[in-house]
Amino acid sequence: MILTARIVDSVTHGNNALMSNNAAEVLEELRNDHRNMAIMIDLLERESNRIYEGGEPDYDLMTDIMHYMTVYPDAVHHPKEDRLYAELKAVRPDLSQGFDRITLDHRQIAEQSMALRDSVAAVAAGSPVYRNKIVTDALRYVNTLRGHMQWEELDLFRRVDEMINSGHVEIDAANFVHRPDPVFGSTVENKFGRLVESIQAVAACS
Ligand SMILES: [Fe+2]
Ligand SMILES: [Fe+2]
Repeated sequence: MILTARIVDSVTHGNNALMSNNAAEVLEELRNDHRNMAIMIDLLERESNRIYEGGEPDYDLMTDIMHYMTVYPDAVHHPKEDRLYAELKAVRPDLSQGFDRITLDHRQIAEQSMALRDSVAAVAAGSPVYRNKIVTDALRYVNTLRGHMQWEELDLFRRVDEMINSGHVEIDAANFVHRPDPVFGSTVENKFGRLVESIQAVAACS
């Protein structure tokens, strides 16, 4: 039921504040992205566990999930965070200690995303890829991204909250990538229609 609520909320409200330079709105958008990314990696983990248990996973679904991860979280969400953290460092260096590795984290996650996307797409197309390699790569990706998002939620986003609460309420959004979320935004891109149906099917069964 929790999953259902998250999906309905995400699909209903989407990602409409793309051009905003209001720091609180940008942060809310990033938190909403995290809820959507959590749905994706839950699905990816479910399919990976099916492979591990010798079952028959939905490789097309895994391919669609990883395609989404490369075109929205890696291409829009993480670069936006990089800009936000850079601004935090510029205006509140006292709140910016200990996150020098964040940009490297984003790069490593993007590399893992692309590698996993290519692996599952190859299997979906009939290529012989070792099942245990898919499981290992997928679960490492799930754990990496979960840990990363948890760090941001429990630490980095709270530092941005503090920046906002101390009066720095507008940020430079000029270099944000302006691309709506193709799955959870107000319009679902055609190529992700099947992925949305899978999400809704999971929600209906919850
Ligand atoms: Fe991030
Ligand atoms: Fe994030």
